[in-house]
Amino acid sequence: MKNILVTGGAGFIGSNFIHYLLKNYEDICVVNLDLLTYAGNLDNLSQVCDDPRYHFAKGDIHDRALVEELFDQFAFDTVVNFAAESHVDRSITNPDIFLTTNILGTQTLLDVAKRHWKLDPDDKYSYEFKEGVKYLQVSTDEVYGALGATGMFTETTPLAPNSPYSASKASADFVVRAYNKTYGMPVNITRCSNNYGPYQFPEKLIPLMINNCLSGKNLPVYGDGMQIRDWLYVEDHCAAIATVLEKGVVGEVYNIGGNNEKANIDIVKLIINSTGKSEDLIVHVKDRPGHDRRYAIDNTKITTQLGWAPKHTFETGMASTIEWYLSHGEWMEKIVSGAYMSYYEKMYANNKL
Ligand SMILES: NC(=O)c1ccc[n+]([C@@H]2O[C@H](COP(=O)([O-])OP(=O)(O)OC[C@H]3O[C@@H](n4cnc5c(N)ncnc54)[C@H](O)[C@@H]3O)[C@@H](O)[C@H]2O)c1
Repeated sequence: MKNILVTGGAGFIGSNFIHYLLKNYEDICVVNLDLLTYAGNLDNLSQVCDDPRYHFAKGDIHDRALVEELFDQFAFDTVVNFAAESHVDRSITNPDIFLTTNILGTQTLLDVAKRHWKLDPDDKYSYEFKEGVKYLQVSTDEVYGALGATGMFTETTPLAPNSPYSASKASADFVVRAYNKTYGMPVNITRCSNNYGPYQFPEKLIPLMINNCLSGKNLPVYGDGMQIRDWLYVEDHCAAIATVLEKGVVGEVYNIGGNNEKANIDIVKLIINSTGKSEDLIVHVKDRPGHDRRYAIDNTKITTQLGWAPKHTFETGMASTIEWYLSHGEWMEKIVSGAYMSYYEKMYANNKL
């Protein structure tokens, strides 16, 4: 892993991953291709923008000519695809862009990488690729659908996505799989549970609740708040992706999770207590259509076969996360713009139970 294309690197997990790479690998060239949608924020990378190992290109993963140009210029040996429309609520109101970016964008990246990496790109029966190249698709546990009160998702759980977002991610996973099966392309897919940590856009549960607590606003909780998610500190996710890049068996899928099942309402209460606010701020709003009730990840494969394990407990991770948001008020301030506020109003206004 020397010349890496990181797509969606101005988003939450992508920017954390770029910080992780630059901190842990000296001899590396990282190119961040990001369209800078509402979720992309170059402030997340202000500390590294002058690092000679880091380059930024603004653009769409679905722009084949641009992706070709970057491959010609940087001769990537690794692609990590974070770029996506990632918010379930937005996928319910506007599914089109989810299908375009998450499925077609992924196929563009795969196709350009195949052309550059295949030893004889014109021989359709050849499965030979350059040494040491790999495409990693950052997927999600949401592709598996929802669980009942018990059980866990393993890598062999059938895909059963329930939202336009998860359907687009599951479709992309199938395309990645097909590039491996049909062309012999060296790929891995990772499916991670919910992440939390620095630089997360405040439409997602944890930064939304921290931000609202700090500004004394109501805390909108979907339905009874008993939706259960399996939470992982973002740095542990980044370390898991680096592990899969280095040691993952080509063609394999790896689930990533921290064995931290929590109900949304308990997370909201934890944030209220940590910021010294009152539970009176909680307002229950109508539940999201098709809201999955419970996710839980079985991480046995990555822990036993590749030796990865999370380093942060939920308690230490949440404490650092809250501390980070408390000390980065300016970062939050810049994001909470007019555009964001009108989106927020649209999502939650008149939905009171
Ligand atoms: N956040 C989570 O808890 C979580 C958990 C598991 C998997 N994932 C997956 O991880 C990836 C990153 O998630 P995130 O939470 O950091 O998302 P995010 O929304 O914070 O960031 C997405 C980034 O992709 C960029 N982008 C969007 N469309 C693009 C396009 N067409 N071309 C180039 N860039 C584009 C955006 O500008 C943004 O910077 C996604 O693929 C998501 O499905 C997220």
